Order: sequence, then structure tokens, then C-alpha cells
Amino acid sequence: MNICCIGAGYVGGPTMAVIADKCPHLKITVVDIDKQRIDAWNSDSLPVFEPGLHDIVMQARGRNLFFSFDVEKGIQDAEIVFMCLPTPTKTYGIGAGRAADLKFIENSSRQIAEVSNSNKIIVEKSTLPVRTAESIKRILDANKNGVDFQVVSNPEFLAEGTAMIDLGDPDRVLIGGEKTTEGDKAVETIANIYSSWVPREKIIKTHIWSSELSKLAANAFLAQRISSINSISALCEATGANIEEVALAIGMDSRISSKFLKSSIGFGGSCFQKDILNLVYLCEHFGLNEVAAYWEQVVTMNDYQKRRFTQRIVKSLFNSIAGKRIAVFGFAFKKDTNDTRESASITVCRDLLAEQAIISIYDPKVEPEKIYADLNIKKGSQESKYPDHCIAAKDPYEAAEGSHAIAVLTEWDEFKDLDYERIFQSMLKPAFVFDGRNILNLEKLQSIGFEVFGIGKGDSL
Ligand code: UDX
Repeated sequence: MNICCIGAGYVGGPTMAVIADKCPHLKITVVDIDKQRIDAWNSDSLPVFEPGLHDIVMQARGRNLFFSFDVEKGIQDAEIVFMCLPTPTKTYGIGAGRAADLKFIENSSRQIAEVSNSNKIIVEKSTLPVRTAESIKRILDANKNGVDFQVVSNPEFLAEGTAMIDLGDPDRVLIGGEKTTEGDKAVETIANIYSSWVPREKIIKTHIWSSELSKLAANAFLAQRISSINSISALCEATGANIEEVALAIGMDSRISSKFLKSSIGFGGSCFQKDILNLVYLCEHFGLNEVAAYWEQVVTMNDYQKRRFTQRIVKSLFNSIAGKRIAVFGFAFKKDTNDTRESASITVCRDLLAEQAIISIYDPKVEPEKIYADLNIKKGSQESKYPDHCIAAKDPYEAAEGSHAIAVLTEWDEFKDLDYERIFQSMLKPAFVFDGRNILNLEKLQSIGFEVFGIGKGDSL
């Protein structure tokens, strides 16, 4: 059986690599209009960093996994087409700032209808507003040339940084389809692919709308946990309680559980904010204003947490950071990924730049060009406001040299074991550390001479 995946990004690439690995009998072609991206997938340096991904791609590539920019041929040859396309928040027109922009999905649907000359199952993997599958089906049916399309929703629950583990051993696989004989058959076909390595009882089959909504709801619930613990972190700082002790105590209640209770500078990533805003938009659309406001507060709390961190830095550095060098450790939205979408680090860096600080940023996996692009810095040009205020450093020692403070913004493991004695020597005094991820041993740093600050830790470390 031939499978085509449209979109060679953080979801398409890793997901197809795992399917190719687990199902050697399937031939999978990942297509994308971005030739550079496809070239990278066909090279030794893959465009996505994900622990374990490289090995799997190297084994399957050329065997039953292929990367191509011939989208049309990829679609034509396939019996199943996965859509792994971005659905960013709309930046214009109706629903701007909230609704999902479905133009990539719509364009792809039209292309599928136009070029297909055999029946296909279309699998939507991107997180989409409820009832998008219906729109896809309408576009397909209105433009098809005598072929039959079944649209199935199979939302992706992988988290970046642990994608290989999440895909290899998922908590559940969700497949939603139309409640018709053909719909059931299509769902079964997709279930059969996963059953090669996922136990049957973990494969849930639902109505298509339940499947679409479950994905939005799952992300909203997860993000809500982070905003909840972050709201308590503010209270901890005000009262002298310690957020890690509080999180431990409440997390041991089995009804609450300890996962996703790590206080931070706020959540980032391509999903949480987008999906919640989507949910909010959906609720407003149905006149459910209280429900919309309830979920919107999760995002408001997250914005507050990011802002609060920068304010704390400014306040500690004697109410001004203008012209002061601040070392930023970490730019990705979390460790073990090179993805920076909606990274809290971007917001904090922008706020620091707005305060006219000079920031030197080090991230183990994010390229300097990406850092400059995300911060809208055009080196050597007059267009950017502060082109020389932002430097991408080659290592953390270079970043910290001559700085007043270090801000840890991503929880990369390597930040835990740096030579902080050496770093302290190279910094201006008093030297500050603001641990936005609570990963450092603050007592040890204090004994070296640093002034330290952790999220949700008042005066008690
Ligand atoms: C998320 C969902 O977990 C996944 O199921 C969904 O399919 C896509 O969105 P992802 O965005 O890759 O995955 O990362 P995740 O591990 O969920 O982290 C999201 C953000 O929350 C990160 O910025 C992370 O640092 C932050 N976070 C996470 C916390 O601040 N505290 C926590 O306890 C957990």
C-alpha cells in the first residue's frame, strides 16, 4: 500500500519515519512544496532535531520512506494521504488572532481533488477546528473527477523532544470517521496501520467531530495545568512558599498527578496557545461567552507569567537594564528540540530588547539565523531597532562573559553542569542568575557568589 504525507514538518517527518520503521510493507512518500526542506530530509542534516529520529530515517530512507517535492505524483500514487500541514492562528480578517488559518489545508484539498484519479482516504493530522473534516470533504467532493474520498481525523498527540517515544508507545491513538459503512472501513484501514505496533485497546474509534474536539480539549487541559501551577508560583513568590514543594505535595494526589506541574516562564510551542484560542473562537461562535472567557484566561495567565519574569529581571538589576548585557540560555520552546514556535524565550528576549538590554543568546540546537529572524533582527541593517543589541553566542561561556545576569529560558540538560565558577569570574558583579525553568542548583550558585532567583521561590530556595 502506498501512503503519501503532505507536509514534511515536525509532525509529518517524525510520524512517517515511525510508520515506515514499524510497517516495512508500506511505502511512504513525504512531500512538501519547500524544496530546501525536502533536500534537507534527503541529506545527513535533517531539518528537524528529535532524539532518535536520525537513526530511524537513515534506516528507512530509500527502503520504504521517501522524501520528494513532487506533490502531485505523491498524491496520485497513494491510497492514503496524510495531511500534516500547519494551521497557524489567523493574522488577518475575521477571527484574526484566534481562528485557525486553514488556507494550507484548503489549498491541499483542492490539489488532491484536482490530481486524483483513484479513490483515497484523506487523514487530517493537523489540529483543526471542529468540523474541518466536513469542509475538506465538501471541497474534495465538489472538485473530484469521479473518485471517492473518505476523510478521517487522526490527531497527533506527540510532544516535540519526545516524539519518537510518543509515537512508538502512544497513550492512545484516536481515529474519527464518518458513521457510514465507507467511513467505518476507512477508519479500520487506518487502525490497521497502527495496530502493527499499538495494542488494539489503545486505538479509539470515534465520530469525526469528537476526534477533532478531543485534540483541542486535550491541549487546553494540558496548558491549563501549566497556567494553574504558574498562577500559584506568583503566589509563592509573594508569600515565601516554594512552588516545587507545593507541586510535589499536590502532585502526589493521584487524582491530580505529578505530570505537567513544572512551573516555568510559560508554555510555548506550536499547539497550546493556538488550540486554546481556537477553542475560544469556537465557543464564541456558538455564543458560549462564559466558556470562552474561562479558557482564554489560560492564555492570559501565560502572557502574565512571561511578562512577570522580565519585570523581575529589571527590578533586580536596579530598575534598569538599558545597555546591560544579559546572557540568555536557551531559545527553543523546550529542551531536545530546535523548534522555536511561540517560544516563551522569544517573548522574554523581545521584552529585554525593548528595555534596551544587550542580549547574548546561546541555544544548543537553534541556529543563529533562526534566532535573529524570530527576533526580527536584521544584522547590519538600519531597519531593526537594535541590530547590535542581540548576539548569538557559540557557547554559554561566551554568552555569559561580561554580562550582568544569566536568564535560563529553556531547560536544556547541559545548563545544569556548566562550570559556574568560571562563568562567575567572567561576569560583572553583582552577578545574577534568573532560572526561568527551575533546573539549576540555586544554593550552590549562591555559595559561588551569584544572586539567584527561581520561579515560584520567594526568599526560600
Ligand atoms: C503539546 C502536547 O503535549 C501534545 O500532546 C500535542 O500534540 C502538541 O502540543 P509540545 O508542544 O510538543 O506538545 O510540547 P509539551 O511538552 O506539551 O510542552 C509545551 C510547553 O509547555 C513547553 O514550552 C514546555 O516547556 C511547557 N511546559 C510543559 C511547562 O512549562 N511545564 C510543564 O510542566 C510542562
